[in-house]
Amino acid sequence: MKKITDTIEIEELSYSELSTKEAALLKRAQEISTNAYAPYSKFQVGAAVELANGEIYQSSNQENVSFPVGTCAERLLLGYVGANFPELAPKTIAIVARREGEVDWAGVSPCGMCRQAINEAENRYNSPISILILQSKGIVLRFQGIRHLLPLKFDDLHS
Ligand code: THU
Repeated sequence: MKKITDTIEIEELSYSELSTKEAALLKRAQEISTNAYAPYSKFQVGAAVELANGEIYQSSNQENVSFPVGTCAERLLLGYVGANFPELAPKTIAIVARREGEVDWAGVSPCGMCRQAINEAENRYNSPISILILQSKGIVLRFQGIRHLLPLKFDDLHS
């Protein structure tokens, strides 16, 4: 038996340690979360992405009474920018969430399918994506690329 060690890095920052651009991205994610259509889970997610030209786009989660049909904020967003701006690599994505009716932000972490979608966007543009997730009490976790959230990721059909 051989042991393989893979290290991941999770950067924990307070709001004041974010760059101006990162703070703006989180704010956009927070603003758009109010557009979530989440009548079933009441978990309102907002995601905002900065593209290679500095433009920001955003999405919320959109649910369905047939639960698996609903889509997370991140996948809707990456699908939208991939479809509309195929020449622009996503550089940073910010993800936030709040339970309906609550004032404080909930902790959030992208689901497995969204991690795979972020992985695809990195591979498509051969460029790592910085991922910011807001936790409770104003703590932000930052990952410099999806590999820190998705060890042993699947990205090659042929090897
Ligand atoms: N959700 C997201 O949109 N993004 C995440 O990172 C976590 C989960 C959505 C899916 C569903 O609409 C609701 O949150 C509860 O799981």
